Amino acid sequence: MKLNDPTLLKTDSYINGAWHGGNTRFAVTNPATGDVIAEVADLGAAETTAAIDAAVPAQKAWAARTAKDRAMVMRKWYELIMANAEDLAVILTTEMGKPLAEAKGEIAYGASFIDWFAEEARRVCGDVMESPIPDKRFLTFKQPIGVFGAITPWNFPIAMITRKVAPGIAAGCACVLKPAEQTPLSALALAELAERAGIPAGVMNIVTGMDAPAIGNTLCADDRIRKMTFTGSTEVGRILMQQSAHTLKKMSLELGGNAPLIVFDDADLDVAIAGAMASKYRNAGQTCVCANRIFVQDGVYDEFARRLTEASAAMKVGNGMEEGVEQGPIIDSQGLDKIERHVADAVSKGAEVLTGGHRHELGGTYYQPTVLANMSSDMMMFGEETFGPVAGLFRFTSDDEAVAMANDTEFGLAAYIFTDSTSRLFRVSEALEYGMVSANTGIFSSEVGPFGGVKSSGLGREGSKYGIDEFMEIKFVCVGI
Ligand code: SIN
Repeated sequence: MKLNDPTLLKTDSYINGAWHGGNTRFAVTNPATGDVIAEVADLGAAETTAAIDAAVPAQKAWAARTAKDRAMVMRKWYELIMANAEDLAVILTTEMGKPLAEAKGEIAYGASFIDWFAEEARRVCGDVMESPIPDKRFLTFKQPIGVFGAITPWNFPIAMITRKVAPGIAAGCACVLKPAEQTPLSALALAELAERAGIPAGVMNIVTGMDAPAIGNTLCADDRIRKMTFTGSTEVGRILMQQSAHTLKKMSLELGGNAPLIVFDDADLDVAIAGAMASKYRNAGQTCVCANRIFVQDGVYDEFARRLTEASAAMKVGNGMEEGVEQGPIIDSQGLDKIERHVADAVSKGAEVLTGGHRHELGGTYYQPTVLANMSSDMMMFGEETFGPVAGLFRFTSDDEAVAMANDTEFGLAAYIFTDSTSRLFRVSEALEYGMVSANTGIFSSEVGPFGGVKSSGLGREGSKYGIDEFMEIKFVCVGI
């Protein structure tokens, strides 16, 4: 890996402002080539407890500083990330596989949460309420919740960390974070830049390790951890919630999705195709908000299918470091197996392959951009997210039918609609049981909009003016006068 600043490539965990190697290490591989790119510290429960021990006093000292002071340190961190964006993107693409241009986009997206929450830190306000009792006065303070545990996924190795850590440290909290074992290098580079920015020892601790259950359980069971924040599968989110029940922690869970993308007859098809391509193939289909079920109304179904097939077949697949590549490899063989299972299941139940449908000729974990027609609700792809570059097309006739199919899932993260009718846009947006609705665009994520789901897609909101509240407690103070 060729970096302008090779000192950004860290392979030890970062605890209490120092780098810890531990006794054993695990291999991080490049999914584009299968090559081992680093051997990273393999830590576990004992080191997680040591990180919590360090975070407790560090949090108190950090919270005692003014919000303005914390904001200035965070702003420096943001600037260092932007100044090192090229190197961070190379690290990200090498360990995760997404195309370099997409990785650069993620660095800017990830950094935007730090910039945003540095500003939000200064706008935290309690209230003074009208008292119902003449000789009493009522007010509220907003205070940091304390030390939080964070567990982050491999699909956004930078942005899912900053979306959790930035509001937390802006609020005056400290964290112990476990990055995904597939992508620890981006997390450690962020820690190096946090240290250079002046984030004090113990405020941001990164524990790397293969034994995710041991690290997760240590965080959940420790009563000094007052909040858990997690992005990943619904299955693991439920386990973390159960493990946190004993110590009654506040939870933020950004879990699985099963996003519907609905194209109505009156949609501008240029916009709908661009939106479907952007949403479906972002990160090779490996995001929680990628379109998973594409519902297309009768009148435009054939034309939409033809144009989506043409655009999908033209995509350039390859190593994300190569110029012009639009889709990289799938993260690992388990991910690839799931995609194959979903496609085989759909085809066995009557789906028609319009393009793709197989592993890519490049080998490894590459998969062909795929479009399937004649999809139906008895197929696996209807009920579960595929997390891969497979666009399944379902035909519908009426608005009610589309909404009913879209809501027929335990998940409720993101939904997309394409229509030129304003009244339809409002009616359908209101009827969709989802935390986020994206209308006439395939990309909606931003530090300013609240990100989160309903039903089995999780709890809480990240980013936006609401995100910092997830890391604060409201204290009611009643003053007798
Ligand atoms: C995710 O897939 O979990 C995050 C996607 C986003 O932030 O847009």
